[in-house]
Amino acid sequence: MNPSEHHDPGQLHEEIARLKREKNALIMAHYYQRDEIQEIADFIGDSLALARQAALTDADIIVMCGVHFMGETAKILCPDKKVLVPDTAAGCSLADSCDPEEFRAFVEAHPDHTVISYVNTSATVKALTDIVVTSGNARRIIESLPADEKIIFGPDRNLGDYINRVSGRNMTLWNGACHVHDRFSLEKIMELKRANPEAKILVHPECRRPLQLIADKVGSTAALLDFARTDEAPAYIVVTESGILFEMRKKCPEKKFIAAPADDAECQCNECDYMKLNTLEKVYRALRDETPEIIVDEETAEKARRPIERMLELSL
Ligand code: 13P
Ligand code: SF4
Repeated sequence: MNPSEHHDPGQLHEEIARLKREKNALIMAHYYQRDEIQEIADFIGDSLALARQAALTDADIIVMCGVHFMGETAKILCPDKKVLVPDTAAGCSLADSCDPEEFRAFVEAHPDHTVISYVNTSATVKALTDIVVTSGNARRIIESLPADEKIIFGPDRNLGDYINRVSGRNMTLWNGACHVHDRFSLEKIMELKRANPEAKILVHPECRRPLQLIADKVGSTAALLDFARTDEAPAYIVVTESGILFEMRKKCPEKKFIAAPADDAECQCNECDYMKLNTLEKVYRALRDETPEIIVDEETAEKARRPIERMLELSL
């Protein structure tokens, strides 16, 4: 099929299914991906579930519909597989807020500290890390360490602040943030709550402390989804990237989900523009041409694999 011809999603679905069979490929998607991608994915999950699933799959090709660091994590865990990300320009402002050389200096300035990094980092930063965590397991892993262990945590200051607050730790934090989660407006969310008093507030820990404090539940995307599925409220204000609403509405069709607004009414600030770079058409082309492929140099991959595997062991 000529890529310029096909605007028919049905035809694209068929072609993707055929290529997947022929090439023994697996399509994985983060909850923040466009609905059209979540619809065709073999596996949808949060960062933790994607890393776990990548480590388990026997597919020859993984098409990681997410952002670059998710493709890198899959490649580090599966060096013999081909890992494709439909658009490698899909970066992450949080990962970008942690320059590897500056992080190296931060680590060197704290020689007696355990280095814990959020999965939203480059492979080079992971290679400088003792344990990688995601928002789905960070609290549990950190609380499993001795109470007096000195820890540096990067790059998300809001997630780090959340863990310090709920676990009574005093981790030294890197000053990074995600441009989507850091911008949600407390004022607008309070207005929404006044208009929808029956709605519970679900907040991702990458959001700032005032939002965490008004939340009925703070958690990773998968934890928020799980809460909505098992809780009894009829409505929820969802304070994270709005892509998660697709799966929430699918899992709980009888409930109302309201996407929280960010601080700027002019933009779709509750959407991650990096995540939305991937399209169905790009998934098709990636599968067809087996590019763009994620490559991580073996020395970096070797060093980065250990803290990711440690995370997987600690979150069994
Ligand atoms: P989780 O998938 O761990 O909820 O993280 C959200 C995120 O921002 C991913 O980039
Ligand atoms: Fe990165 Fe934020 Fe986008 Fe997640 S939502 S991929 S943390 S920029």
